[in-house]
Amino acid sequence: MPALVLLGAQWGDEGKGKATDLLGGSVDYVVRYQGGNNAGHTVVVGDQKYALHLLPSGILSPGCVPVIGNGVVVDPAVLFSELSALGERGIDTSKLLVSGNAHLITPYHTTMDKVTERFLGSRRIGTTGRGIGPAYADKINRVGIRVQDLYDESILTQKVEAALDFKNQLLAKLYNRRAIEAGRIVEELLKYAAELRPYVADTTLVLNRAVDEGKVVLFEGGQGTLLDIDHGTYPFVTSSNATAGGACTGSGVGPTKIDRVIGILKAYTTRVGSGPFPTELFDDDGEALRRIGGERGVTTGRDRRCGWFDAVIARYATRVNGLTDFFLTKLDVLTGWERVPVCVAYEIDGKRVEELPYNQSDFHHAKPVYEYLPGWSEDISKAKTFADLPKNAQGYVKALEDMSGAPISAIGVGPGRTETIEINSFI
Ligand code: IMP
Repeated sequence: MPALVLLGAQWGDEGKGKATDLLGGSVDYVVRYQGGNNAGHTVVVGDQKYALHLLPSGILSPGCVPVIGNGVVVDPAVLFSELSALGERGIDTSKLLVSGNAHLITPYHTTMDKVTERFLGSRRIGTTGRGIGPAYADKINRVGIRVQDLYDESILTQKVEAALDFKNQLLAKLYNRRAIEAGRIVEELLKYAAELRPYVADTTLVLNRAVDEGKVVLFEGGQGTLLDIDHGTYPFVTSSNATAGGACTGSGVGPTKIDRVIGILKAYTTRVGSGPFPTELFDDDGEALRRIGGERGVTTGRDRRCGWFDAVIARYATRVNGLTDFFLTKLDVLTGWERVPVCVAYEIDGKRVEELPYNQSDFHHAKPVYEYLPGWSEDISKAKTFADLPKNAQGYVKALEDMSGAPISAIGVGPGRTETIEINSFI
């Protein structure tokens, strides 16, 4: 099973790091294909906890080549700070490959992200403030700076000047801020050029060869399906394709070479930032999910909004990603509820709707229709097989599987690396 995509089936933060790391030992390449350091993976290895934002989580597996694909936006300052933090903890990071076509996040992208959010006021997206949107906007506007530009100073200078031309007008005239000097940015970017050089590669070639040789290549999505720029809750989304198609465009590996697409699905729902969220809870249950689930953003430190499981969203994720499997995470967090509500459909203007409405206004008005499943109180963190789970937990998993449209092949029952039930092997 050489090429697999692993992505968030909800609004991100489903626990992808754990899933990737679980596979890490058998995976030859782990590829990030979109997003940047807006992502946040927490990976627990033994008694060590690692929080990664930009680097693929496969960097923690000794035999694995971590790859930053062309679809990623790279903040070089963050890249080197993550690399040196791992180096200090004895992790070998020398195998990392970075696409020469990946775009760079520069200090002016971060500035633009922050000033734009401030300008939007109550209409703000609630971005992570890491410059992700402005870097992708420059890429689409064809004024982006790519990793390969670091190796031609004259080209780099011309490109930075072109990119700043318009932004400086905006900064000075609209946002009342000081203009940014191109020379200072070029100087700062060039500081990273030599150090970055050993990692820079034609990753498309490397990855296609790896797939052709039957190596196991894992494409690791950042964010989640409903944060996808095309298929998410636009405009409350990130600026890249977090869905399965992004794995192809963001790596240069074609869709016929992908064998399996695994959606990571939390046993309840969370999101950070603004935007619609039909099953969001504002009561003690929401607070309990946040506390028990440790629902605080790895990247921003913001409390996550919490709610019950939404099967409409899970079905949508199955559809737009062509999911072959789910990895259900954090089932243990639901231990202790007498009954667990699950949203099976929405009510919109008095009508029952089974599928995610494509019209944004409808989605904003969607009210969850709940079914109540019997809960369980036993500790499930030691369960090794599906049969070890209490009957009601088994029933909950089976019900989610039936509603979501793809088999649940693994279940997370605790934060540790071994606290996972594998039902069908992914590889
Ligand atoms: P941006 O990606 O920083 O532009 O933020 C756009 C939206 O995506 C905001 O609502 C963020 O909170 C959200 N977002 C970005 N990255 C993540 C993530 O890794 N997990 C969950 N939400 C994210």
